[in-house]
Amino acid sequence: MLDRIKTLLGQDWIATQDMIRSSLKSDIELLDATNSAILSTGGKQLRPILSLLVARACSGGHASEDSIRFASASELLHNATLLHDDVADNSAERRGVPTVMSLLGGPASVLIGDFWLVRAMDNILASVTRGTRAIRIFAKTLSDLAEGEMLQLQKAESCDTTEDDYFRIIYNKTASLFEAAGVTAALSVDAPDELVEAVREYCVCLGIAFQIRDDMLDYSDGDGLGKPVGADLDERKITLPLLGALRSLDENEESRFRSMVKDIPEHPEYKPEIRGLVFEKGGNEYATSRLVEYTGKAIKAIGILPDSEEKEYLAQIARFTADRNK
Ligand code: IPE
Ligand code: IPE
Ligand code: MG
Ligand code: MG
Repeated sequence: MLDRIKTLLGQDWIATQDMIRSSLKSDIELLDATNSAILSTGGKQLRPILSLLVARACSGGHASEDSIRFASASELLHNATLLHDDVADNSAERRGVPTVMSLLGGPASVLIGDFWLVRAMDNILASVTRGTRAIRIFAKTLSDLAEGEMLQLQKAESCDTTEDDYFRIIYNKTASLFEAAGVTAALSVDAPDELVEAVREYCVCLGIAFQIRDDMLDYSDGDGLGKPVGADLDERKITLPLLGALRSLDENEESRFRSMVKDIPEHPEYKPEIRGLVFEKGGNEYATSRLVEYTGKAIKAIGILPDSEEKEYLAQIARFTADRNK
């Protein structure tokens, strides 16, 4: 489906790809070569795809130059956050290949992430009329992200994550960037307020659903995922599948499992029992029901957009998110 969308986007897609590539040029050989290597294993590029679909769906198919700038910035920023995230999570593999962190070390991964982030900002600020407004939107996302990651670290110490905490964390670390990508895309074609708000609701719900699915995949066998599974428990992240399973335990049992999560660094042998609980107590089914709730809300939100092929693809992306395996 994503390839079909890229074909529909045509020249807008090509221009966005070109902008991403040219934004990352550097005369420092190690940096330039690493950037090319990251681009060659690309990932799904979901954020610029969403961004361009939104811009076109809100404008009768006419993306603007700013649409291209903001779409490219959303992918540059996404990759910047992954370069930082792999250091935070000590992750060895992403997109089926070793991470920059594992090849060049944490400091290099952070610095390259900074480089991608600043080049994204340059693209946003290249918009003369909409740059200031767009940079504020993306700036909020970056502070959301840092707060979400810090809350996650705080909760990894206490292991008392509630569902409210969980939803705040995933809004901050994932949905906020989807929101910024969609809202700036709508602004790039001067969409009326009511469409901007519909797009915002769609993107927030989609981003939440997307991260719920990511957290479910961490409890899967990981075939073809291209990144390690079971990593969330190693990091003492209590995510929705486990929260769903904990719901059916009494208070004592629940606190026993929460203490086990807390002790995982010293007792990795607790992991199979905790993973077993998720399967026995319907943790994945609970997560699925919340996932379906959010994808449904996302599809409903874009109901007011004028009918178009782009709008139809936005709905399909929501459905794809619910059962994606990578
Ligand atoms: C990974 O995002 C990080 C999350 C928000 C779960 P993607 O799954 O979109 O990553 P790539 O870019 O396709 O590798
Ligand atoms: C989402 O967090 C990624 C970011 C906010 C950067 P995860 O740590 O769950 O993402 P993956 O699983 O490493 O892709
Ligand atoms: Mg991670
Ligand atoms: Mg994850």
